[in-house]
Amino acid sequence: MFNSKRLVFRAFNFETDYNTLVQWQYNDEWREFMTSAPLTPPSSEWMKNLYAERAPTALPMFAVCLKPETWPLALGPDDNLFKAVGPPIGVLNFMPARFDFKNRSCELAIGMSDPKHRGQGYGKEIIEWAFEYGFDQLALHRIALLSYSFNSAAIKLWRKVGMTEEGRLRKIYLRHGEWYDGVQFSILEEEYFSRRGMA
Ligand SMILES: CC(C)(COP(=O)(O)OP(=O)(O)OC[C@H]1O[C@@H](n2cnc3c(N)ncnc32)[C@H](O)[C@@H]1OP(=O)(O)O)[C@@H](O)C(=O)NCCC(=O)NCCS
Repeated sequence: MFNSKRLVFRAFNFETDYNTLVQWQYNDEWREFMTSAPLTPPSSEWMKNLYAERAPTALPMFAVCLKPETWPLALGPDDNLFKAVGPPIGVLNFMPARFDFKNRSCELAIGMSDPKHRGQGYGKEIIEWAFEYGFDQLALHRIALLSYSFNSAAIKLWRKVGMTEEGRLRKIYLRHGEWYDGVQFSILEEEYFSRRGMA
């Protein structure tokens, strides 16, 4: 389990957390922002199978939780880590379908379903920790993110943390009768380490 200033990143529990993701998928606004979201809200059986299938890939998927006030937790042998940390407010996924081992490149999915958790700097904390983990621990060379062009919060944030716009997938997404571009961003390890003053 990892942590940043205000957040805890714990392993996604494929037995229990998938239900939270099913609930989030019933939020239309959330599904419209997430480029990896299914077309319609999935059944819990579908979601469970999806994550059961991906569990053996062992690629990191994190439930993002608020750090308890009592951090660091002093857990006894009978304490439940998942209860102690609380439910996820967001997800950080190093997406298996976009993970290129040979070229050490990966695309992330990041988001918080409930708008009340947005606009408080958590998104910045998540992406900054994802870079640290991705470049320092997974030895990635490139981290990418794809957002829809109307997602101004996401696009502003990716720029703010030093990502570069690589290009656009033209009119890839139909939303309420209008076509929108996908905007592809990335950051390279040398750019990240240079920003951290480690070049
Ligand atoms: C995109 C998302 C992860 C950003 O996280 P966040 O916690 O809301 O953003 P932060 O509070 O860290 O803000 C980061 C910057 O973005 C800006 N920002 C936040 N919300 C914004 C909004 N609605 N419009 C424009 N800019 C916004 C902030 O102003 C901040 O810049 P500043 O410090 O210069 O003011 C979050 O809004 C989210 O989960 N959205 C729903 C799912 C989603 O869109 N995921 C990304 C899919 S690619």
